[in-house]
Amino acid sequence: MGEFFEAVERRRTVREFLPDPVPEEVLRRCLEAALLAPSSSNLQPWEFVLIQNPAARKEAERICLEQKPAQTAPLLLAVVAHLDTWRRNRDEVLRAHESRGGVRPSLGKYYRTLIPLVYRTGPFGILGPVKTGISRVLSLFRPTPTFHGRADLRVLVHKSTALAAQTFMLALSAEGFDSCPMEGFDPWRARRLLGLGRGAEVCMFLAVGRRSGKGVWWDRVLMPEDWMVRTI
Ligand SMILES: Cc1cc2nc3c(=O)[nH]c(=O)nc-3n(C[C@H](O)[C@H](O)[C@H](O)COP(=O)(O)O)c2cc1C
Repeated sequence: MGEFFEAVERRRTVREFLPDPVPEEVLRRCLEAALLAPSSSNLQPWEFVLIQNPAARKEAERICLEQKPAQTAPLLLAVVAHLDTWRRNRDEVLRAHESRGGVRPSLGKYYRTLIPLVYRTGPFGILGPVKTGISRVLSLFRPTPTFHGRADLRVLVHKSTALAAQTFMLALSAEGFDSCPMEGFDPWRARRLLGLGRGAEVCMFLAVGRRSGKGVWWDRVLMPEDWMVRTI
């Protein structure tokens, strides 16, 4: 228990790294931890892309606007949020349940009927506003989940992907390594570099390594707790 809170406390955004590489086994353990993160309907919409090719790395630094952490980290990776993997991943969930003795009817119905309803937005997203309108009206009469339009789906996949990214950063901290999450980057060039289609976007880049003596640029600034936590 203590170790978890230590890792949380120890994690800071590090913007200057030592050149020491991140050992392969540390990286693997942290990625394995990240892949245990919770996700909406367990559809795990994320992808971690390790940028190791020198030319790709150079371009990624440019895409990250030449930020110091991107330039100094021994490891740079992109965490991608996928809107386009739900069918494949839904089928994998069903396959896993099938191989463990069968898919319960309620689970089958959830993944075969509800999930397509949530994720399908039709050509050019045309069904999105219709779905949202229907769920708004139904919500006047009874609690109703949003039947998502494309904008809602983007939030949905980024939410789960960010949880995986945070799990990865906390695991690195527990291993004595550091990270810098970066949303300061050019999303169009990032998509091109990583060969992503229109159904995927970079959630954040992560610079990873060990902090240098000047790695943490300032002391923590925390908002007063009563702004951040309330009870109703
Ligand atoms: C989604 C996200 C995007 C961020 N983008 C950047 C970034 O592009 N460049 C940067 O230097 N820091 C970035 N940060 C780091 C924040 O500035 C940092 O988390 C915040 O100042 C709190 O500091 P701490 O992480 O050391 O507690 C980002 C953090 C998050 C969560």
